[in-house]
Amino acid sequence: MKTIEHIAIIMDGNGRWAQQRGLYRSRGHQEGYETAKKIVKAVSALKIPYITLYAFSTENWKRTTEEVGFLMRLIKKHLRAEFQFYVENNIRMIHIGNLSALPKDIQKEISDVTEKTKHHAGTAVVFAINYGGKDEIIRALQKIPADKINSITESSFSEYLDYPLPDVDLLIRTGGEKRISNFLLWQTAYAELYFTDTLWPDFTEDDLHQALQSYKHRDRRFGGIT
Ligand code: FPP
Repeated sequence: MKTIEHIAIIMDGNGRWAQQRGLYRSRGHQEGYETAKKIVKAVSALKIPYITLYAFSTENWKRTTEEVGFLMRLIKKHLRAEFQFYVENNIRMIHIGNLSALPKDIQKEISDVTEKTKHHAGTAVVFAINYGGKDEIIRALQKIPADKINSITESSFSEYLDYPLPDVDLLIRTGGEKRISNFLLWQTAYAELYFTDTLWPDFTEDDLHQALQSYKHRDRRFGGIT
């Protein structure tokens, strides 16, 4: 199979999934959380080196206090509850996004799990929490010492991003919308895009395999000629 190093997912459609069933939006996020667990397990079993999940964007603060609070609790719960799973499966947890603007308890949870799993050599699960692609690029620019600005290259610039991730090979977005929504702007420069109408809570391991199958048939030229 064509190699794949990095899958990124925009897990969209939780709210609609709940609304279609006359449930609170939070119920959709709860189901979305279960889906994320299943997909991480499948990606880890496939030995794909990196999966990045868009769990909370810099724009998601615009939602109601209840929804933001629920998502924060869910993220915290996930980091705690899945720690044993990370250990058993040799998974490395990485965070990208503006950590300092997150609630203190979440910051601590993220730092703890990142530290305790940093030596794991299996799949890296990258959680984008309080993440925005433009925000990451701006914060990276602010970290570059003035005397290095003129000698910066594409590869040395990556070192200033939240984490020097490999480029995304396949970007999946569920929920029917066809846009990037400020996700991994630098890292998706040559990503293959896969959009599906399936709402995130309904996304299954079979759907993941379908996306991988589609990726397998893409002709990746990176601007060149095959
Ligand atoms: C988009 O659906 C989804 C989010 C903003 C949150 C994603 C979070 C999770 C799946 C749960 C947390 C996961 C982990 C792994 C900790 P939406 O609410 O915009 O859906 P809509 O477009 O139907 O309204």
